[in-house]
Amino acid sequence: MSGADRTGAGARLAGKVAVVTGASNGIGAAVARRFVAEGARVVLADLDERAGRALAGELGAAAAFERCDVSRPADLQAAFEACEARFGRLDVLVNNAAIQSTHDFEATDEAEWQRIVDVNLKGAFFGIRQAIAFMRRAGGGAIVNTSSTFAIVGSPGYSAYHATKGGVSALTRAAAVSLIKDRIRVNAVCPGTTMTEGLVAGVRATAVDYDAAMASYAALQPMGRFAQPGEIAGAYVFLASDEASFVTGAELVVDGAYTVV
Ligand SMILES: NC(=O)c1ccc[n+]([C@@H]2O[C@H](COP(=O)([O-])OP(=O)(O)OC[C@H]3O[C@@H](n4cnc5c(N)ncnc54)[C@H](O)[C@@H]3O)[C@@H](O)[C@H]2O)c1
Repeated sequence: MSGADRTGAGARLAGKVAVVTGASNGIGAAVARRFVAEGARVVLADLDERAGRALAGELGAAAAFERCDVSRPADLQAAFEACEARFGRLDVLVNNAAIQSTHDFEATDEAEWQRIVDVNLKGAFFGIRQAIAFMRRAGGGAIVNTSSTFAIVGSPGYSAYHATKGGVSALTRAAAVSLIKDRIRVNAVCPGTTMTEGLVAGVRATAVDYDAAMASYAALQPMGRFAQPGEIAGAYVFLASDEASFVTGAELVVDGAYTVV
């Protein structure tokens, strides 16, 4: 394990039960691993059954996989019901599943726009909406949305993706204020460029020369490299844990200073 992958482990989430969407791969998988290492029980909710079931098997009795398309509110509802049935409660939701748009403005057609909005923004909205009743039954909870540095800065491509991540950040603030009455905290993590399957697929779809594009992206990073998923996961542990009891409506930017240079 490289230094960048190394994660601490303890019991910062002992007794908590979480649903993590988009948990089969990438940042979501790293979050699920860290949550279990910190004492949580986790439902991995994702479309990718093969990778999700493999990860759940590796994590053992503290994890279960539920097939879920976050763009379908009924699927989210079913995942939360399965979580409550299996682990007794729902304390934490990580709204993490998302897809990238791969086009700039003029090349984005209505179908692409709709799909991105349905997964990235509608998925987060209905994740929050459907989780409220479950968390109320649990006496409160914590929701962590995955936004992005692309909610903060622009780029010459990925235009629909930028719009949805800006929406996720605004949604985070709105829900934080609205759900104080339900003892539910709502925060967001804004990852910087992170080495995941999603990143690789996005660059492959947009770049003429993949290696050159990755090298030029890396050169734009103040730290000269991308994050590893394990380096992002700790922010989710903090925001989901009782250490963050007074933190709500916040965005935790984990980007190696990409947005501050
Ligand atoms: N990797 C980066 O550089 C980066 C940077 C900033 C933000 N993010 C955000 O982090 C999150 C995770 O990204 P990643 O890079 O790990 O992506 P990834 O593509 O590696 O993993 C995403 C997971 O979401 C799942 N998924 C996709 N559509 C789904 C749907 N409709 N319903 C349920 N699951 C679905 C996929 O099967 C996959 O397991 C996303 O919200 C992404 O926007 C990533």
